[in-house]
Amino acid sequence: MGRNTAELYQGMAVHELHGVSPSYEPLCRAVAGSEPTRALLDTLPRVKRQPNLLLGAVRFLAGPVDDPTSFLNCARSGPVPLPTRLPEVVWRAGFDLNPLQAHRDDRRWLASLVWPEQIDRVERLDQALGLVAADPPRLDAGDLLVDLPGLLADAPSDGTLVVFHSAVLAYLDEEQRSRFTDVMRAVKRTRDVHWVSNEANGVISGADMNPRPHGRFILAHDQVPVAVTGPHGHSLDWLP
Ligand SMILES: C[S@@+](CC[C@H](N)C(=O)[O-])C[C@H]1O[C@@H](n2cnc3c(N)ncnc32)[C@H](O)[C@@H]1O
Repeated sequence: MGRNTAELYQGMAVHELHGVSPSYEPLCRAVAGSEPTRALLDTLPRVKRQPNLLLGAVRFLAGPVDDPTSFLNCARSGPVPLPTRLPEVVWRAGFDLNPLQAHRDDRRWLASLVWPEQIDRVERLDQALGLVAADPPRLDAGDLLVDLPGLLADAPSDGTLVVFHSAVLAYLDEEQRSRFTDVMRAVKRTRDVHWVSNEANGVISGADMNPRPHGRFILAHDQVPVAVTGPHGHSLDWLP
């Protein structure tokens, strides 16, 4: 019987990379020790799980190879229901009080908000902004307390409608947060909408956790917590 994925990556680190590649050796040790990463690799055919393919793919996508923590950049735990394919997006639109554009000055500002050591985040942001610049999505100037129903009225009626927001409701005071819940309830009365929020503890009624997860966000579906997340997307701990 062949070696399992942990043995494959550990063996690569010890027997092939040690003393030869100071950057790849810790990456392979990290993969060997990461249950979620191994579980993901184990969904692939056996011949596609080999370290050289993973390492090459990460470099091809300009991913980080100098730091195992960034390499495994969204640590996961719990029964995360990972999709087996990307959803087909038939319509998308968003708004912000002050929408930024994918042009030079806004790009520089957004990149400046990323912490200096997080090279992988800067690279991912740059790639995402490249996609946005090439095919700009609808992005309106709007206030979520006022403009959400109007925006959703433009969505086609035959898709699955999802309202997603992240790190926004903390900017509202308590009365405004409660008004936003009312807005969402009103929207849900007119149409089947999935409300997916990724926000700090205490900003969405019904989605609080006790004890509160310090320094983490709560991913909630229709006000029910489903996971605790790293605020910048670096971890996803699915609740049992
Ligand atoms: C910390 S940023 C989060 C950006 C993004 N959602 C993310 O997770 O990276 C907060 C954003 O909320 C926007 N914002 C604050 N109050 C808002 C409101 N009432 N309506 C729409 N956008 C708002 C701000 O303009 C800012 O761009």
